[in-house]
Amino acid sequence: MASKGPVKIGIIGSQFQGLCHAEAIKGVPDAAEVAAVASPTPGNAEKLSKKYGIPRFFTDYKDMLAEDDIELVTIAAPNYLHAQMTVDIAEAGKHVLCEKPLCMTLEEADLMIETCKQKGVLLMYAEELLFTPKYVKAKQMADDGAFGKVYMVKQLEKHFGPHAEWFWNVERSGGGALMDLGCHGIAFCYWFFDRAAIKNVYCHMATYVHGDKTKGEDDAICIIEFEGGRVGVIENSWARRGGMEDRIEVYGEGGVTYADLHMGNALPTYSEYGYGYAVEKAPSTKGWSWPVFEELWNYGFPQEMRHFARCVRGKEEPMCTGEDGKLVMEAIYAAYESAGTGRKIEFPIKTHDVKRPIDLW
Ligand SMILES: NC(=O)c1ccc[n+]([C@@H]2O[C@H](COP(=O)([O-])OP(=O)(O)OC[C@H]3O[C@@H](n4cnc5c(N)ncnc54)[C@H](O)[C@@H]3O)[C@@H](O)[C@H]2O)c1
Repeated sequence: MASKGPVKIGIIGSQFQGLCHAEAIKGVPDAAEVAAVASPTPGNAEKLSKKYGIPRFFTDYKDMLAEDDIELVTIAAPNYLHAQMTVDIAEAGKHVLCEKPLCMTLEEADLMIETCKQKGVLLMYAEELLFTPKYVKAKQMADDGAFGKVYMVKQLEKHFGPHAEWFWNVERSGGGALMDLGCHGIAFCYWFFDRAAIKNVYCHMATYVHGDKTKGEDDAICIIEFEGGRVGVIENSWARRGGMEDRIEVYGEGGVTYADLHMGNALPTYSEYGYGYAVEKAPSTKGWSWPVFEELWNYGFPQEMRHFARCVRGKEEPMCTGEDGKLVMEAIYAAYESAGTGRKIEFPIKTHDVKRPIDLW
């Protein structure tokens, strides 16, 4: 494997997030390049490879792992596959960048962390909100003292539900809107509060509109108390009409800031006829819409890829690791248990013998 030059990356998955990885890596050619893509549906990896000029494609990711020059493999596959894929990648001696949520259970998280440690490879957790330029600006201002002591950070992500079937099947996703979207907010608040320990978690969840499609919750409100008198409020929904919403609010004794990732970066637009593309999960481009520009950059995806590639080269320390993904998972367990019992769940959480976090609801 190379020790300098752009890091050679293999991507597992060729659909929504696989495409995002390919596009994001294309944006940081000095740091990384996609050497190969693997996806099981015949034709799909090839299609992605043609679109992005990726030299090699595979239907079985294990064949991709046998390629000597690949240094880092990104996992953009359904949640229930993350743990086994991580083990396989680590055993092939390659670094891992795993999409959120880290996996399905805490036992899987331990296995992933332990295997990567044993094999001497990095296990990095792809939480792009730590790289989202607007949110990074809010954190920088907070660190500069703009708001005095920050006592509350709110992060919300809402839309009308995911694009692929497996998200709706809790056997394969592990849970609903909290599992899928809440993992972002939990990681974000933890980072914003400089990794303060979690004291307790309280959560309310319900299935308001998609009960016919899923056993998972389609709406969740989660309150996390961190050490030092600070609270994170995380709101998530698959029941919210009108496309994608992603926002933060930061409250301190000396000030406040708000950041709206989508409508706040967009061009308020009215079109009688509609047009090509507005933004992820927008239901229509007719009437009023909020088309974004530089969508991936506004999310921080190229920036995250540059960072993780630099970590492979030893030029930076991972800002988000397997251990962070595991902590997020602990908060998710606590949130489902809280919603199930109506109680606030204190940390450290006790061990649970469940197949997936939602079983605690
Ligand atoms: N960071 C983000 O904002 C973000 C956004 C979307 C999805 N994600 C995460 O990315 C992951 C993938 O989600 P998605 O939206 O791309 O799903 P998707 O259904 O659009 O794509 C999943 C891909 O995984 C592939 N796959 C399925 N089984 C496989 C196997 N056995 N071996 C190899 N590949 C396999 C599929 O063929 C497909 O290409 C999920 O964990 C999801 O939570 C993260």
